Amino acid sequence: MIEPAKRLQSVEEYYFSKKLREVNLLKTSGLPIINLGIGSPDLQPPQKVLTAITDSLTNPNAHKYQSYQGLLELREEMATFYREQFSVSLSPKTEVLPLIGSKEGILHISMAYLNEGDEVLIPNPGYPTYQSVTKLLGAKPVFYDLTEENSWFPDVLALERSDLSKVKLMWINYPHMPTGAKATYKLFEELVAFGKRNNILIINDNPYSFILNDNPKSILSIKGAKEVCIELNSLSKTFNMAGWRVGMVLGDEIYINNILKIKSNMDSGMFYGIQKGAIEALKCSEMWFISLNNVYEQRRALVWKLAEALNCKFDKKASGLFVWAKLPAFVKAEEFIDVILKNNHIFIAPGTIFGTQGEGYIRFSLCAPVEDIEEAIARVR
Ligand SMILES: Cc1ncc(COP(=O)(O)O)c(C=O)c1O
Repeated sequence: MIEPAKRLQSVEEYYFSKKLREVNLLKTSGLPIINLGIGSPDLQPPQKVLTAITDSLTNPNAHKYQSYQGLLELREEMATFYREQFSVSLSPKTEVLPLIGSKEGILHISMAYLNEGDEVLIPNPGYPTYQSVTKLLGAKPVFYDLTEENSWFPDVLALERSDLSKVKLMWINYPHMPTGAKATYKLFEELVAFGKRNNILIINDNPYSFILNDNPKSILSIKGAKEVCIELNSLSKTFNMAGWRVGMVLGDEIYINNILKIKSNMDSGMFYGIQKGAIEALKCSEMWFISLNNVYEQRRALVWKLAEALNCKFDKKASGLFVWAKLPAFVKAEEFIDVILKNNHIFIAPGTIFGTQGEGYIRFSLCAPVEDIEEAIARVR
């Protein structure tokens, strides 16, 4: 056997990749599993997106390699989307880079900016990929705790007092996954100032802005933010296009060029039809968001009932695609979800997969039809 690279020792297979194998095995053995674990939208993308990809197939250029930077028309639409939704002005030629999902952006940004031994500020709880990518590159994750008491916001003063001499990047993610916390402009301002004072590149990962959130915000709307901030966004949740793999990174030309240097060595452009579909998605009117959120609102009301039936507490003001719920005191998250999986055949994500601060919490996804959630409530009761 050939020895794998040492970097493989720094990461484990992604939790969902492992756990879903177990869940699927239970399913194929005939158990009626209800999956409230993963945030993969089950709703359809807008119809005009589907028409655009189908129509694109007969274009003679559709099957060729595409531009590394994406079609200018796509970048223009992304810039328009940012201007209309967040009042952020971006040059489509230099400050917008389409990505094959925002997850790949996490790797590209990290590869463009981290040397071995550099330190990276990572939220705990937070999206596990920030940590695994950091470790794969031989850099060091430095976790900053988010707590319910502090509204799941970083304690910027405490960070400032710590040794930041090796810190190069800071990941933030508002609206926050898994807690659903929403940033304030004040928090963003504090973070921009913190980045400037300490020469740290702050990346706001922003894929949940349009789900159950009446006030979407971008960190790039803060004055002077482009000096030290970039933002990731994604069509996965906003337009139910998770499998299409369309994301974007936005920010100052210098940052975008450095990321493009990495990316253009990794892939050879996004499929033409996907870009045409993405263009149509970004042109959707406010009606799209209203009808999408109507569905999620209905589901969330039921998930709140399910959480109550499981004696959990949650914040009704939180946003996003999940309900983050606190278990009764002393109940361990992973033990709890294993019992619910075994006894009630309901899969819920344990908070611990997002970090130690997730102990005592579980995360319900809203990506399941009301019938499934009603059935889950009936099973628990
Ligand atoms: C916080 C966060 N960032 C990024 C992603 C990746 O999204 P994409 O589908 O754009 O790669 C996810 C997906 O679940 C996420 O929860």
